[in-house]
Amino acid sequence: MERIGVIGCGLMGSGIAEVLARSGLDVLVVERDQGALDLGRQRVNASLTKARAAGKISVEDAEDAGSRLRFSTDFAELSEFPFVIEAVAEDLAVKLDVFHRLDETMVDRGAILASNTSSIPIATLAAATTRPENVVGLHFFNPVPVMKLVEVTPSLLTSEATVTAAHALASEQLGKTPISSPDRAGFVVNALLIPYLLSAIRMFEAGVATAQDIDTGMTLGCAHPMGPLALVDLIGLDTTAAVAESLYAEFREIHFATPPLLARMIAAGQLGRKSGQGFYSYRQ
Ligand code: 3HC
Repeated sequence: MERIGVIGCGLMGSGIAEVLARSGLDVLVVERDQGALDLGRQRVNASLTKARAAGKISVEDAEDAGSRLRFSTDFAELSEFPFVIEAVAEDLAVKLDVFHRLDETMVDRGAILASNTSSIPIATLAAATTRPENVVGLHFFNPVPVMKLVEVTPSLLTSEATVTAAHALASEQLGKTPISSPDRAGFVVNALLIPYLLSAIRMFEAGVATAQDIDTGMTLGCAHPMGPLALVDLIGLDTTAAVAESLYAEFREIHFATPPLLARMIAAGQLGRKSGQGFYSYRQ
């Protein structure tokens, strides 16, 4: 495979596009409008610059990766691609629309339609297409260039060939470690991670400890690379809540319920790092 499409160039889409380009693939990134596309391009460039400055890649490799990335707002440009990864917002209606459009656009009936969804059932996305055997979950972790894991999730209708291709892309092409996860909300990692993050928010909301002390507790007490509230800021408060809602809708278990503070912060536009304010401030 020489080329691949990525739909959506937010936090996850930009990271996915970067690692695909760095692995030697030609990448077409499609966004809904020019503003979102420009922001996405800036994200990828900033990350490549950071990787270069940290000595993770050579100047030549960063330039090569940059030259492999093409950006467009025209969905139709994906029509001849053999593999597309959807990484738009964690919103069911938006994702269903993308899968429906992909199904209409992509000419090759063998083309693979992967989703980076954190929590929406792959079967639901597959049902928006006429080729459910080619639809698979390919869930990356943030920040994508740094995190080694990819969850590969087939639905009940995904073919063996599609699963094999998804594993091969993750491991052989990208050098990531794939794990097989079931098609249930939260897959493996978020089903464990989200209740932990929500517990930290509840603890903060109840005034048990400061944000800093909660995070210091988990970084120094449990050797986590960052504390739970800093991690919610990194993931995005809106994304965290969206994943929590999917988990709650599926299992109806109280530890998946969105804490009121999380809902209020989202309503106030405090989405974490990407908005400049979350549990911490990121404004210069
Ligand atoms: N390419 C390659 N390497 C890069 C890079 C890039 N574009 N950007 C940064 N790096 C490297 C840095 O050089 C550094 O390497 P080093 O450890 O060898 O010095 C390392 O990555 C860390 O980068 P920084 O020092 O710049 O630290 P940051 O503060 O920016 O980031 C962190 C640190 C990687 C985010 C770390 O705190 C961490 O691992 N946190 C946990 C992240 C996590 O749990 N992610 C999962 C979220 S859940 C998810 O995504 C699922 C979703 O569905 C909700």
